[in-house]
Amino acid sequence: MTGKNDNNWKVSEDSDGIVWLHLDKVNSKTNVLSARVLQEFADLIHGYSQSPPRGLVILSDKESGFIAGADVKEFNNFHTEEEAREAIERGHAIMNQLESLPCPTVAVLHGYTLGGGLELALACRYRVADDDFNTKLGLPEVKLGIHPGFGGTVRCLERVGPLKGMDMMLSGRNLSVRAAKKIGLVDYAVPRRDLREAARQSILNPPKQKPLPHWMKLLNHSRVRPWLAKLLIKKVSQKARRAHYPAPYALIDLWQHYASDRDKMLQEEAASVARLIIGKTAQNLIRVFMLQEQLKGLGRLEGYQPKHVHVVGGGIMGGDIAAWCAMQGLNVTIQDQRHESLAAALKRAYGLYKKRLKQTRRINAAMDRLMPDINGYGLVKADIVIEAIFEDVEVKRQLFREIEPKLKADALIATNTSSIPLEQLAEALNKPERLVGLHFFNPVAMMPLVEIVHGKQTSDDTRDKASAFAKTISRLPLPVTSSPGFLVNRVLMPYLIEAVTLADEGVPLKAIDQSATDFGMPMGPIELADTVGLDICLNVAEILSQDMAIDVPKILQDKVSQKQLGKKTDGGFYKFKKGKPVKPNVEKNYTAPTDLQDRMIMRMLNEIVACLRDGVVDNGDLADAGIIFGTGFAPFRGGPVHYIHDRGAEQLQKLLENLTHLYGERFQPDKGWSTLK
Ligand code: NAI
Repeated sequence: MTGKNDNNWKVSEDSDGIVWLHLDKVNSKTNVLSARVLQEFADLIHGYSQSPPRGLVILSDKESGFIAGADVKEFNNFHTEEEAREAIERGHAIMNQLESLPCPTVAVLHGYTLGGGLELALACRYRVADDDFNTKLGLPEVKLGIHPGFGGTVRCLERVGPLKGMDMMLSGRNLSVRAAKKIGLVDYAVPRRDLREAARQSILNPPKQKPLPHWMKLLNHSRVRPWLAKLLIKKVSQKARRAHYPAPYALIDLWQHYASDRDKMLQEEAASVARLIIGKTAQNLIRVFMLQEQLKGLGRLEGYQPKHVHVVGGGIMGGDIAAWCAMQGLNVTIQDQRHESLAAALKRAYGLYKKRLKQTRRINAAMDRLMPDINGYGLVKADIVIEAIFEDVEVKRQLFREIEPKLKADALIATNTSSIPLEQLAEALNKPERLVGLHFFNPVAMMPLVEIVHGKQTSDDTRDKASAFAKTISRLPLPVTSSPGFLVNRVLMPYLIEAVTLADEGVPLKAIDQSATDFGMPMGPIELADTVGLDICLNVAEILSQDMAIDVPKILQDKVSQKQLGKKTDGGFYKFKKGKPVKPNVEKNYTAPTDLQDRMIMRMLNEIVACLRDGVVDNGDLADAGIIFGTGFAPFRGGPVHYIHDRGAEQLQKLLENLTHLYGERFQPDKGWSTLK
């Protein structure tokens, strides 16, 4: 093998004259197509176009996968559309040259093959992929507010046809290797050990490439496209508005107008991505991606590898936390004082595994890792104990007193409490420095964030290990101080309560929810309250009202005392049918108050400013990350703090003053506005 050590690509040639191009990006666990990686690749491909080898195989030396996409960090470097377009066109030129090499070319795929990585693979003549559930192929660019930009729109549609191709690109979903094989995205799916031989054979005996079936080609016809485009737009608009998320619409336009002319479509693809990438939505979504990376970074801790988790409390939260940990490969013992709770937890775990893991072998393996343990035998082996029993200080303290003597000396003790200050719980422990909060959200399997709550007594080592644990189970750790509501509930609650107050004032529920989704929230606050459970909302609101300007609306108390708890009782503010809210229509001539949206959103923004002033999180970026991943706050706005700066803090402070004048003290701007950085 040749190549200098600091080269990202390593080249070897075998006795058949086949050149093997290994990508092994320097100082990185994952291969991404940075400008440097692409430049080296361009030089190599240029050389092969001058003197072609018998065949060219492109493969990755990384365990994580082939190529995870472009280097998103570099997306921030573009200041103008022209700059972006130039960079994209350089990528186009490389892919075009790879595609036109006169020799057979094969991409060998395993693990993650995403975005630009899949586009590169699509510019090869053949693709062979590892037949393993870890192999994931996709074009997730829409999630960053753009669409494929290295010729991928053209080549993906040529390979799999417009129906499957547009679906892949519009949803940004990853495909399993089996699904990819089925639609013709990869030519061969073979076990890992046979990958190289399959690649070799594709070059020595190149198989014929199957053309798309006639009916699929027909869908690409210029007369059919406008009709199909209309359907696609209708489907997309149910999920994302053009004004908020322009990329999927741009992709449909691109295909509709240019699919008859390959060269033109390639050109327009570059122009379209250049336009999108410097736009606000893409820049904010790129910000969200970077925030996610930042949180993952907080979970990096060399040498800490928890293997055994013991969960005490097998109710809604404990049961789901245990199931999630076992699904992520850890050994889990789960303890509850009631057999029934454990039985229910195992049943829910099985349901989750069936949905997510699909294959019987993997489902059984996860179930084997999840062990009911009514007597708490697992305590002695645990690297971390997670307590999720009743929300009662004395009951929790009693448990800690009982379990601490049984634990390993270096085991972490974590509590899932949502409201009890850690300092109060720590009093029960001999080694209080190892107590930390791991505040999961419901439903555990859907919510990516875990607040890492550190009390005054929590040691830095404990906090870092807890963050690393969260990362081990594929959750994003957000360090927060042990103050009422931590970050997410504290910021969410004033917004929910304002929505309930509006409902109490007679604003139609549907209008309230609509106003929030118009802003870009994934779900309206009334539906959210019903989904979380009105009893849980009331409980959190009552606790927070001790420290914050929250008046718990009577209507909420009434609903709870009437046992109308929301989705779980099929009725709260809305009635529920098959798990979906039935939203009564708003009267035709109804006009919503003009400050409806402001009243809800401003309470949230005021609270985030208060959290920053209180130091609940270290900085605005972490606050944004927490609220986006903890509540789904309109990602295309880049987070609440970013949004405040975007609209102008001074102007928003004035808006709050106006609202205070109209509606009272709860809108009083927090002191933090004047020092907001
Ligand atoms: P739950 O009532 O569904 O479950 C509690 C479980 O703990 C029950 O199965 C009970 O039998 C068991 N338990 C009680 N005392 C025990 C003991 N001494 N030893 C063993 N098992 C015992 O409660 P849920 O909702 O799961 O809440 C648990 C914790 O999670 C609470 O601290 C709560 O504040 C917190 N939390 C709840 C959230 C939610 O949305 N439900 C969200 C985030 C945190």
